[in-house]
Amino acid sequence: MQTASRSIDTMRSREVERLVVGQPTSDGAGVRLTRVLTRELQRRLDPYLMLDEFRSEDPNDYLAGFPDHPHRGFETVTYMIAGQMRHRDNSGGQGLLGAGGVQWMTAGRGIIHSEMPEQKDGLMHGFQLWLNLPAASKMIAPSYRDIAAAEIPEVTTAEGVRVKVIAGRALGIDGAVVRETTEPLYLDLHMPAGSSHRQPLTAGHNAFLYVYAGEVEVGGERRKVGAQRLAVLSNDAGADGVTVHASGAARLLLVSGRPLAEPIAQHGPFVMNTTQQITQAIADYQAGRF
Ligand code: CO
Repeated sequence: MQTASRSIDTMRSREVERLVVGQPTSDGAGVRLTRVLTRELQRRLDPYLMLDEFRSEDPNDYLAGFPDHPHRGFETVTYMIAGQMRHRDNSGGQGLLGAGGVQWMTAGRGIIHSEMPEQKDGLMHGFQLWLNLPAASKMIAPSYRDIAAAEIPEVTTAEGVRVKVIAGRALGIDGAVVRETTEPLYLDLHMPAGSSHRQPLTAGHNAFLYVYAGEVEVGGERRKVGAQRLAVLSNDAGADGVTVHASGAARLLLVSGRPLAEPIAQHGPFVMNTTQQITQAIADYQAGRF
């Protein structure tokens, strides 16, 4: 029997092209974190520039926080799983980011902000993802949006998979953020033991998933992706999405976006297209023009 629309059960999944282990590092005033999307993946995972996971119950790992620092030319998306972080910026904006909440900051032509823990003990766990801006938008006015946990659309599938739609569109609902140009899809999946999930992905969009609890199997090859592993998903032209199976309970981020295919010039917190623009960014920052 033929139906007008193709059943999701006939989806052909992308496969795991590569598994990446995060690198322990420290940033800010000495916050210990794991950098899972590093510079060598920026071209392959265009438009994404970086993904950090911070997770510790030891206050010595996070108390120093991220005091005042600049950004230009891209967006930072901070997603808290546990803990509280206060942010302030030089346009007078501030907010408290709590468990399950997201801060979506567009640095544009320049912002100076701080991100400081607002707790003296307990677990601090979250992610910061950097999303590039197209060349034409790198110098737009900076802005940010705090999105509380309750404002992030969430759907539970028939198999019991909880899907938090931070950005993009999934299961027929729009996420908290919907963007043109890079068309980011950013999902947090909570999978119960024995469940499967199929997520359509736009052909040609780069995609990856990051498992932060448990382990999953991905694609028709059922490649195992363990905890704290980033899986780069193949851009197989015949695939229309990705299939994920979880034998035991698992949690993961699933991210995709439309590549910009523009030159990337990065110097720390400045990401532009040319070294001349980087030199200008440093000069502007030092002259107090942010
Ligand atoms: Co920052």
